[in-house]
Amino acid sequence: MLRPQIAIIARVGAQRDFLARGLQPQPAARFDTPFGRSNPIHLFDFQDIPFAVLSRHGESGYEVSAPYVNDRANLYALKALGVEKILAWCAPGAINEAMAPGDLVIPDDILDEGHQQPYTFFPGRGLGFVRQNPVFCPELRQVLIQGLSSGPFPLHAAGVYTATTGPRLETPAEIRKFKLLGGDLVGMTLVPEVFLARELELCYTPVCYVVNYAEGIKDRPYQRGVLFEGLATPQEIRRVQAVEAAFADLVLNLLPALTATPRQCPCPWLMERYRQRGDIGPDWRQWFIGPGEV
Ligand code: HPA
Repeated sequence: MLRPQIAIIARVGAQRDFLARGLQPQPAARFDTPFGRSNPIHLFDFQDIPFAVLSRHGESGYEVSAPYVNDRANLYALKALGVEKILAWCAPGAINEAMAPGDLVIPDDILDEGHQQPYTFFPGRGLGFVRQNPVFCPELRQVLIQGLSSGPFPLHAAGVYTATTGPRLETPAEIRKFKLLGGDLVGMTLVPEVFLARELELCYTPVCYVVNYAEGIKDRPYQRGVLFEGLATPQEIRRVQAVEAAFADLVLNLLPALTATPRQCPCPWLMERYRQRGDIGPDWRQWFIGPGEV
């Protein structure tokens, strides 16, 4: 079995993009974890770099919307496979008008405006008081910024991602509030995913491709029965589709540099204080057994 060091968490049916480039997968597997069943995980090998691909929202259609993705099971399963690094593709809306649909953004911070999801692997316990600066792995961010800055899509090397819970979209007043608070993007996928990844000491960094201007940023009348009910124009949708068509090539180009990062970042040590204190042992699988488990 391949032992992937890196996983790509991405959009619906992301595995098909790699199959279309001739990569041979091992059979996909779902894993039973203490936190429930993971999504299917596909393992590929590209030039002797094994990597895992997990589609958050489903294999063929949009089967699970953002608030119902089992992030804990997915991350647990990836860690159990040997994954140390996660590249998280996500498709938010833009609050910052300089970030147009079809642009790429490597966010550097999060404004958490969500609620009600399982935010921790340690509910009811005194663990997980983890520092969130830098919230995304700085080594992986650098690779992305360097690797994507000369590509075909405009790149923004920083931005604040505002996390909402969904599944509904925001009201115009909510978007005005997020703008006042300093949000550049708004989306439902990175939280709690990133915070959970950090409790497992994984390097985690997103690549966002903007899919629409957030509600109220542009004057977009309601349209019946079309994507986002008219929030995005056909021209914007075409720009987004161009990024989606390039997704697998962008990832494959980045893979060698992403796997080469030395992990001298804080990520592998985020739970070290608890290890030193004896609250958790060296084997991470044992961390979740005890009072208040799951
Ligand atoms: N808001 C929240 N999530 C999103 C949006 C949005 O405008 N676009 C894509 N995901």
